[in-house]
Amino acid sequence: MPHASFDADLDPEPILDPEFIQYLEDREFDLIFPEDVRKFSVVHWTPISVARQAARFLVATPPTRVLDIGCGPGKFCAIGATTTEGHFTGVEQREIFVRAGLQMIRSYGVPRVNLIHANVTEIPFGDFDAFYFFNPFAENLWHSSRMDLEVKIGPEIYSQYTDHVRRELSKLREGTRVVTYWSDGEEMPDGYELVGSTFCDHLKMWVKRRGGGHMEASDQAVSPR
Ligand SMILES: C[S@@+](CC[C@H](N)C(=O)[O-])C[C@H]1O[C@@H](n2cnc3c(N)ncnc32)[C@H](O)[C@@H]1O
Repeated sequence: MPHASFDADLDPEPILDPEFIQYLEDREFDLIFPEDVRKFSVVHWTPISVARQAARFLVATPPTRVLDIGCGPGKFCAIGATTTEGHFTGVEQREIFVRAGLQMIRSYGVPRVNLIHANVTEIPFGDFDAFYFFNPFAENLWHSSRMDLEVKIGPEIYSQYTDHVRRELSKLREGTRVVTYWSDGEEMPDGYELVGSTFCDHLKMWVKRRGGGHMEASDQAVSPR
């Protein structure tokens, strides 16, 4: 996948200890980011306590490869990587967040995190064992969630992305784990069992069961939920 590299723009050496990052409060953590990224924290970036719990569930048998679908500046990935032994990849369509995230990861020397500037539709889901999904497509439906004017939004885009995720998840093997946060589960295909929920039911944990919802690569149709 030919994705832009921002490496040359980053500070060259880690200046802080990655162990430290997991002990921060959300407000302290968010101060890592510049104001134009931090201003989205309260609504759009996963709280640390939620990220820790989600990551612990996703990384069941290390080394697990986790994809954060719509990763923002990589807060979930960074907390996941410093509190588990998993490998975390985030995909994010907005360059400003990817740049801020890469700088954060470099500054703290956070291990096992990779942030990709791309649309989720460009990412092969088969490269991953587990997925984190914090309602990334909501701004296509709710104008109050709109982050900026950088990307085109609309209900048809919501359906396109949600259908894509559901179709990709349906192809994955038994045992695949997914955590959804603030989602109604529309992106979850048949065959995934809801095995737990917490944080007032906003954080949901799913596991793909044997044979459930498997579709061939040709994908005829996605069964509606
Ligand atoms: C609610 S935020 C969650 C950020 C991060 N996962 C977290 O939990 O802290 C959703 C993010 O998904 C991104 N996003 C939305 N649609 C996307 C797409 N099709 N491809 C890649 N990123 C997307 C948005 O730009 C936004 O930064």
